[in-house]
Amino acid sequence: MTDLRMFLQSRPRRLRRSAAIREMVRETVLQPADFIYPLFVCPGKGVRTEIGAMPGNYHLSVDRLVEEAAAAYEEGIRAVILFGIPERKDPEGSEAWDPEAAVQQGVRALKKEVPGLLVITDVCLCEYTDHGHCGVLEGEEVRNDPTLELLARTALSHAEAGADVVAPSDMMDGRVGVIRGALDDAGHDQTILMSYAAKYASAFYGPFREAAGSTPQFGDRSGYQMDPANGDEALKEVALDLDEGADIVMVKPAMAYLDIVSRVKQTFEVPVAAYNVSGEFSLLAAGGEKGWVDRDRLMLEVLTCIKRAGADVILTYHAREAARALRRG
Ligand code: PBG
Repeated sequence: MTDLRMFLQSRPRRLRRSAAIREMVRETVLQPADFIYPLFVCPGKGVRTEIGAMPGNYHLSVDRLVEEAAAAYEEGIRAVILFGIPERKDPEGSEAWDPEAAVQQGVRALKKEVPGLLVITDVCLCEYTDHGHCGVLEGEEVRNDPTLELLARTALSHAEAGADVVAPSDMMDGRVGVIRGALDDAGHDQTILMSYAAKYASAFYGPFREAAGSTPQFGDRSGYQMDPANGDEALKEVALDLDEGADIVMVKPAMAYLDIVSRVKQTFEVPVAAYNVSGEFSLLAAGGEKGWVDRDRLMLEVLTCIKRAGADVILTYHAREAARALRRG
C-alpha cells in the first residue's frame, strides 16, 4: 500500500470524532431567540381552529392569541408576527387599518399581557381585499401608487396599537419610504421597519393562502412579486429598501432561496431575515406524517442551514417545536 502519510497531512475527521469536539467547532448555533413565530388572529372569543394544511397552527381570537404567545415566550421565543383574518372584505381592504380589527386588538393585548415580547405585524392588503390582491385594482391591474397610501395607513394603525416592528409584504415599489415617512410624521420614529425586500412569486405560499383566505380571485402575484428565476434583482430590491429606510430586510421563501440569503448578507452586511414559509412547513409535516422523513431532525437541519446561509432571523411555523427541541438538546 502507498504511504498515506505523504498526502494525508490533513485529517478533517479528527474534529468530528465525538459530540464534544463537534460541539466545540460548530460554526452555527440555533437559539430560540432567532425565531419569529407567525400567528393568525381572527375576530371572536375562545377561537382556536386548526388550519388544515398546517397542523399545529391555528386561527386564534385575541384571548387565545395571548395564551399562545405567552406559552411561546415561556419557551424562549422572543418575537411573533401577526396576520389578520378580517370580518369583512372590500375592494380597498379597509379593515386593514381599522383600529378595532383583530390585529390591532391583538397587538394591544400582547403588549399589555406579554410585555417582553417583540410584536411584529405583517402589513398587506391581500387578506382584506375581496379580490385577494395586495393592492387596489384598475381593471385587472394592481395599481402601485394609490396602494401606497393605504399601506401607510395600515402600518400607522399597527404602530399606534403599539407594534414594535411593521413588516410590509406587498412588494409595491416605494412602500418602505412612504411607510417610514408616515410613521416618522406621526412621531413613531422608533418603530422598526422590516421589509419583505426580496419576496418571490412562489407556489410555496399555498397553505398560507388557505390559512389567511388570501388567494387571488383572478390571476396571480407575478406582476408584483419577484420571478423565482432572478437573483441580481433581489440585490436591487434590497438596496432600494435600505435606501428608503428599512432596518431589517427579508428574503422569502427560504429553503430554495438560500443563495439569495447568502448574497444579500454578504453584499449589505445588515440584519437579514428569511421566511421559512407555509409550504416549506407543510412539506415537512406531511412527509413526517407519512413516515417518509424524520421530521424533527429535518426541521432543525433546515433551520440551521438557513442561519448558516446568512439569516440572522428566521420566521418559522416550527418556532415553538424547534425551541423545545433545542432546549432538550
Ligand atoms: C401577504 C403574505 C403572504 C405571506 C406572508 N405575507 C402571502 C402571499 O404573498 O401570497 C406568505 C407566508 C407563508 O406562505 O407562510 N402578502
